[in-house]
Amino acid sequence: MKTTIFPGATLQGTLERELPGDKSISHRAALFAAVAEGQSEIRHFQVSGVTRPMLQALTALKVPWSLDGDTLHVTGRGVRGLNAPSFPIDCGNSATTLRLLAGVLAAAGLPAVLEGTPGLKRRPMGRIVAPLQQMGVPISASPDGCAPLRLQGRPADSSLQAQHLLLPVASAQVKSCLLLAGLGCEGTTRIDEPGPSRDHTERMLQSMGVTVCSEVREGIYCVSLCPPRPLELTPLHLNIPGDPSAAAFLIVAALITAGSELCIQNICLNPTRIGLIEVLQEMGGDIEVVNQHIEGGEPCGDLRVRSSHLHGTSVSGERVVRMIDEFPIFAVAAAAAQGESVVSDAAELRLKESDRISVLAKELRILGVQISEKADGFSITAGAFKGGSVDAHGDHRLAMSLLVAGLISSASVTVLGSECSAESFPGFADLLRSLGARLTVEQTL
Ligand code: S3P
Repeated sequence: MKTTIFPGATLQGTLERELPGDKSISHRAALFAAVAEGQSEIRHFQVSGVTRPMLQALTALKVPWSLDGDTLHVTGRGVRGLNAPSFPIDCGNSATTLRLLAGVLAAAGLPAVLEGTPGLKRRPMGRIVAPLQQMGVPISASPDGCAPLRLQGRPADSSLQAQHLLLPVASAQVKSCLLLAGLGCEGTTRIDEPGPSRDHTERMLQSMGVTVCSEVREGIYCVSLCPPRPLELTPLHLNIPGDPSAAAFLIVAALITAGSELCIQNICLNPTRIGLIEVLQEMGGDIEVVNQHIEGGEPCGDLRVRSSHLHGTSVSGERVVRMIDEFPIFAVAAAAAQGESVVSDAAELRLKESDRISVLAKELRILGVQISEKADGFSITAGAFKGGSVDAHGDHRLAMSLLVAGLISSASVTVLGSECSAESFPGFADLLRSLGARLTVEQTL
């Protein structure tokens, strides 16, 4: 599929529930509901390309679930009530599914094979395999340290050995995998990280009756988890807030297009997720946060965004962790801003759905942006987008960012492979159109 977007639009509107529910919270809610005892009801679940594999994994583990629109019902079986899958579980393109599932299967002591798309098989898995092995989990990766992962299973009456682990890189997927494995340990599992990765796992497990404590000690982010005995987790009843990583595309779209104003309601404003909003505000972006409240244990609120003149900025350190998924769209904002922007400490971007530093540089250069690559980031000198044909490289966040760039290009921008935006934001092009953008979508062979 290719989508062509034409410049010159003004975006106006109020989004109540049109934005997908948060992806990270959706993944966790489905999986954690499966290991709770009894019925969970999860409203505004993100039904998308990357959450489907998690739902299919529940089927493979013989956990009943049903979707009524975007309300997910799950009949939890308990950690020890899951069944071993009779075939390899396909995690699709979702590293979150694979890594979190590995943690739950480790706690449950079940044999399983976890695999996925060629893209997922390029993502590093040694970062969960080595610590899981240290906990006593019989797990192995392929010789290159990637999926498929093979878990052997262990006797129902045996426990894993609780560990105190220091992660070399801040990662919510790795932390969550190890905390979930910690449910199968005797005693307290402690995970230390060099940065504030998203903490939805901690918040949700706590709401389910697990003792989880978080603190920052001399710049290190420490979490400890002590499983309840007996190991019974309370089912979930929650309404998932809108995904700030999906909102990011609309926020930047409204900021960079003249005369635009959007109100985006009920977005997750967890401090570990709002690095981009803070950075855009510092760049001069008119983003007002109103109606702040807590819902389902997560800080939420509405955003009012108005078109603004942005200036360049630098992003590094812990900020990077709190906006790790937002760099493709940040780059578009930076290119539209006055002056230079520099991103450092972001080598992790090379290990996402694509090498986000290199593909971003390649495609933005086609649109006339002056961008130079660094090992751990990039720098962008402001310049005008000139339109052209670009490729999404199978990366949903790159696809949507390039479409937003087309809103202010001197000529139309065509994004090849734009269908991948449905991985995390089904209906993105239609929503953009409903707000005032002009675009055409064409099926390609
Ligand atoms: C996620 C964590 C992040 C993020 C991903 C979702 C999660 O990955 O990039 O989109 O839900 O835990 P890392 O933990 O690898 O940084």
